[in-house]
Amino acid sequence: MTHLRLMAIGQNHIFVFPKQIAMRKKPNQQNYADYTPEDFEVWKILYDRQMEHLEGKVANAFLVALDKIGFSNTTIPSFSDVNQRLNRLTGWQLVTVPNISPPKAFFQRLSEKKFTATCWLRKKSELDYLEEPDMFHDVFAHAPLLTNVHYTNFFHQIGVLAMKYINNDEVITKLQRLYWFTIEFGLMRSKGGELGIYGAGIISSKGETEHALSDRSIKHDFDIRRIYQHNFRTDIIQEEYYVIDSFHQLANSIPEFESALFEPAYPD
Ligand SMILES: [Fe+2]
Repeated sequence: MTHLRLMAIGQNHIFVFPKQIAMRKKPNQQNYADYTPEDFEVWKILYDRQMEHLEGKVANAFLVALDKIGFSNTTIPSFSDVNQRLNRLTGWQLVTVPNISPPKAFFQRLSEKKFTATCWLRKKSELDYLEEPDMFHDVFAHAPLLTNVHYTNFFHQIGVLAMKYINNDEVITKLQRLYWFTIEFGLMRSKGGELGIYGAGIISSKGETEHALSDRSIKHDFDIRRIYQHNFRTDIIQEEYYVIDSFHQLANSIPEFESALFEPAYPD
């Protein structure tokens, strides 16, 4: 596995911490005046390119959320503005971190309805290859759906349970899988039956956007018990995805989250 390849494929939020890479110093808070013309250009290139790739492939709920959060291709989002909107809609907040958060810190923030996000952007010379998730992944792909109360109720519960069982490696592994196959790599079926992307790891990845809805991957109906047993790889484009019908379905699964963690292995 090379981390560079991993990040080019499916930029995930946690679970792989690139200790082997001497990471350059990143800001630990957003100072809007520090953004350069290149940063604005990179944001616009990535935004325009990904919106074009997502056309007809992204879940409508994401587009609704993108409108609610008010992003555009010409303006790098201000965390202060984003947080005002999120606070009004769901009570969530973005919290700036310089690099990928280790799992415990990440889950701790989730349990507080806070989402850790970087505020720096990749260079123009590394549009498709970067060491770790930057703001385009963390903010463009993750932040819009934090305006959706059903989505955030589900997301919050992952953090709450993770903190309750933070010293239980088996439970944490299961919750990482649940996070992976929903928040990062989830698909949604529309009322008309078409599949759409809502997972942030796909939304910010050009290659995975093409692949996820193709017939080269296997799609399963959303099933918490199956996901809890489904190991995933971070170093390849995903081969299997889980499909929900709506964010209501995710929120409605909350009552079985905890009990299903301790059930015997699910039969094939
Ligand atoms: Fe992520």
